Amino acid sequence: MPKEIGFKESIEDLEERERIAELGGGEKRIAVHHEQGKLTARERLAVLFDKNSFEEIDKFVVHRCSNFGMENQKITGDGVITGYGTINGRLTYGYAQDFTVFGGSLSETCAKKICKILDLALKVGAPIIGLNDSGGARIQEGVSSLGGYAEIFLRNVLASGVIPQIAAIMGPCAGGAVYSPAINDFIFMVKNTSYMFVTGPDVIKTVTHEEVSKEDLGGAMTHNNLSGVAHFATENDKDTLLMIRELLTFLPQNNMEEPRLKSTDDLPDRETPEIENIIPINPNKPYNIKEVISVLVDDNYFLEVQEHFAQNIVVGFGRLHGRAVGIIANQPAVLAGTLDINASVKGARFIRFCDAFNIPLITLQDVPGFLPGINQETGGIIRHGAKLLYAYAESTVPKVTIITRKSYGGAYCVMSSKHVRGDINYAFPTAEIAVMGPDGAVNIIFKKEIMNASDPLKAKDELVASYREKFANPYIAAELGIIDGVISPRNSRRKLIKALEMLQNKTDRNPAKKHGNIPL
Ligand code: HXC
Repeated sequence: MPKEIGFKESIEDLEERERIAELGGGEKRIAVHHEQGKLTARERLAVLFDKNSFEEIDKFVVHRCSNFGMENQKITGDGVITGYGTINGRLTYGYAQDFTVFGGSLSETCAKKICKILDLALKVGAPIIGLNDSGGARIQEGVSSLGGYAEIFLRNVLASGVIPQIAAIMGPCAGGAVYSPAINDFIFMVKNTSYMFVTGPDVIKTVTHEEVSKEDLGGAMTHNNLSGVAHFATENDKDTLLMIRELLTFLPQNNMEEPRLKSTDDLPDRETPEIENIIPINPNKPYNIKEVISVLVDDNYFLEVQEHFAQNIVVGFGRLHGRAVGIIANQPAVLAGTLDINASVKGARFIRFCDAFNIPLITLQDVPGFLPGINQETGGIIRHGAKLLYAYAESTVPKVTIITRKSYGGAYCVMSSKHVRGDINYAFPTAEIAVMGPDGAVNIIFKKEIMNASDPLKAKDELVASYREKFANPYIAAELGIIDGVISPRNSRRKLIKALEMLQNKTDRNPAKKHGNIPL
């Protein structure tokens, strides 16, 4: 006869099993993890989710591998904690890889756990946050773990543009561990403790004989500064998790919803005369467009995305009268605000995110054109610049633009012009809208006249002055109706808010198609 046990004993048994699961790879490994300044997977989830809101699922799952003695090394829950809870009161799914369990490596069962909540998140329509800390595919499992990764990648792709997907890199992430984050919408990396690489320094040394440190190859600043893989560099685990909570406040739950309004005491008709002191009258003098953004948005609060990458374009989130907006702005303080390969790709990706999730686009334009140069041309500025153009043209969310100073050449067309479905386009009275800057223009169209003049320098100066008089203002564009008005900088915030309110119920569609063919 089996021994009968009552509820008391079975509950004690359950609690003991839970206690074991919660220990992950054990106290020793947890201590090592803490020594590195890292929180454990459970501690991370506790900071990320609202207090006591996280509900774990699949706590008792174990791996099924029997290679290399693995059958004797089963850890309850395996290498990942999965579940759901609330963040800022809203349903969110999440998982945290546990580095103390086989280095957070992905077993077939880990993959199944992650896929289960990805499926739920997609069915229900709520964001998913992945806290990654993993040595990649679990080597002992071979193809089963590789297949597990592919199952996750598929779901990431299917969920792309339907629910926000955010990845935090919180430890060394190698191999397959980097590709799921790469398909997510945003990647956070913790400085000094997180790394991303497809193959690590040792493999590189063997194959290409190059020597490189982990930090230089795939540290937080490498991916924030140089590669553009990551979107945020954070100071430590807690900082990362709190920033994810903050980012979520700007996002809707899914592509059928709009972001939540946030009440503010910042008045919609607040005048913004400060802008007149920020933008120099001399068109060749730089200024920091972030100062203009800060003056415009509610409570001067701007959450910059990819702050360290392609700084000649600034992208990020702010609010206007409580409504979340995505801001794209040329940065005259870096490379004179020209568009290069990296800036085009950065801008395009951000625009497509906002468009997918019903976040209106505000464009601040001060751009002398695409960056000239052999590197740019041979690097494919034609293909990459086209991404920005494509992203603006295909987007159907409300699009409001202010030309703060220069709007030259192809960049005029690309940066949300009326011709690519900009809804409301304004310019400041000092704006210059032309095919190119005065110097370059007269060199081309008056080449012979300048060469044949008795005093070529004087002749050129006169021609530049006359070109400037003709084109260095916004009124020709205003006469043609290809901008909607010329506005005083002090009215900018009010004008933007009015335009957004007017566009609230905008609907616009693209022709039916399977999908477009953005020049990747
Ligand atoms: C199984 C692994 C593992 C893995 C680490 N561990 N990675 N177990 N499979 N992929 C285990 C270690 O054996 C060790 O176990 C524990 O995790 C901690 O690892 P350490 O090496 O001691 O830690 P550390 O020095 O911090 O180095 C972490 C690391 C390194 C940088 C992640 O472990 C590493 O390089 N791992 C392999 C990374 C890799 O090449 N993965 C590629 C997988 S291929 P004990 O028992 O000692 O604590 C892949 C292909 C998918 O992912 C492609 C899809 C496109």
